[in-house]
Amino acid sequence: MTTGTDTVAYMTGFGNSFATEAVVGALPIGRNSPQRPPLGLYAEQLSGTAFTAPRHQNRRSWLYRLRPSAQHPAYQPFDQGRLRSGPFDETPPNPNRLRWDPLPLPTVPTDWVEGLVTYGGNGDAEAGTGVGIHLYAADRSMVDRVFYDADGELLIVPQEGAHRFVTEMGIIEALPGHVVVIPRGVRFRVELFGPSRGYVCENYGAPLQLPDLGPIGSNGLANARDFETPVAAFEDVSRPVQCIQKYGGRLWATTFEHSPLDVVAWHGNHAPYRYDTHRFNTINTVSYDHPDPSIFTVLTSPSEVHGTANMDFVIFPPRWMVGEDTFRPPWFHRNVMSEFMGLVYGAYDAKAGGFAPGGASLHNRMSGHGPDQATWEAATQADLVPHKIENTLAFMFETRMPIRVTKWAHETPLMQLDYDDCWSGFAKGRVES
Ligand SMILES: [Fe+2]
Repeated sequence: MTTGTDTVAYMTGFGNSFATEAVVGALPIGRNSPQRPPLGLYAEQLSGTAFTAPRHQNRRSWLYRLRPSAQHPAYQPFDQGRLRSGPFDETPPNPNRLRWDPLPLPTVPTDWVEGLVTYGGNGDAEAGTGVGIHLYAADRSMVDRVFYDADGELLIVPQEGAHRFVTEMGIIEALPGHVVVIPRGVRFRVELFGPSRGYVCENYGAPLQLPDLGPIGSNGLANARDFETPVAAFEDVSRPVQCIQKYGGRLWATTFEHSPLDVVAWHGNHAPYRYDTHRFNTINTVSYDHPDPSIFTVLTSPSEVHGTANMDFVIFPPRWMVGEDTFRPPWFHRNVMSEFMGLVYGAYDAKAGGFAPGGASLHNRMSGHGPDQATWEAATQADLVPHKIENTLAFMFETRMPIRVTKWAHETPLMQLDYDDCWSGFAKGRVES
């Protein structure tokens, strides 16, 4: 995938306190809320953490805009389609391994918000714990419509089609292979250029951050310099623009008499960003055994239990496999964490078939899973020369709480009712009793 088609500029770094202005002189110097901000703009603080959060966790930005965000009529309930939210109580907890075929592309014109469909999640949006997991299939741009999420931060994983996220704080372009994070509360619209699909992890918990590296050292995995935040860009539009928000698990809408994407300058660290997974510094064994998949963590949302994430975002990118006397694909395992997986492109090395790009799988807490029989047969007989897994990008949203599946995801014909069969034919171990 090329990333050379950008028409917008980015600032690099993770968690930096950026400063950017689309018009020279729009950004106040030396103070956040001067008596009269430059150019007659309105100053607004957008807080992503409590005012009193520790400095290293604190997220906030100051926005300088054409009109105050407060200038709008009341929000009214809005049709939420197939979007659902925590607490997830449509179906009882399901301990079974589940897998779905890819979400079909739309047959009627559908924008990004209309195309969202929730597969499941956990926790409670209002309590600030857990995640919502959504997929989308869409084919038209949002026009005179913006969206924001008061319930969580959005980690968006495009799977098909070019995406352009026009946000309050600048423009992000993304292709399959990129991931995009839109912080809680930041308004945006999605422009598309044809049939498009992807995955969304709506993180109700602590904002995503880079994982600690421990003995790995000061470099590796996702490097901070590869995260890209857009420079300020604004639109001066004086016509009705619908603003849809997700609040308390439901959608609400109002109409501004102008575009709320009117931030001329901003500074701070509560800002959207993208990351190109091709830049991930994949670390793996150079001796034996298949390490835990935590070595592939891109971003993590920590919980109050040290080392136990509200959500980890983990990728399985191209990499060399060199382990000696090692079963190289993912092993059989049962995990206290719950695993929702997707595939952007290529093939995933634990499955010989059935897990297609755009599809999804769920292995909940303590469910036995791992390589299917065909993969196991091949890997146990393979000549263990170094080889490279190429042209693939699978990923996992791994979360500390079991994932409850929505009624839609339980009932959709996309559900593979024969998924258990991929583990049904293993021969017994050779032990005489
Ligand atoms: Fe797993």
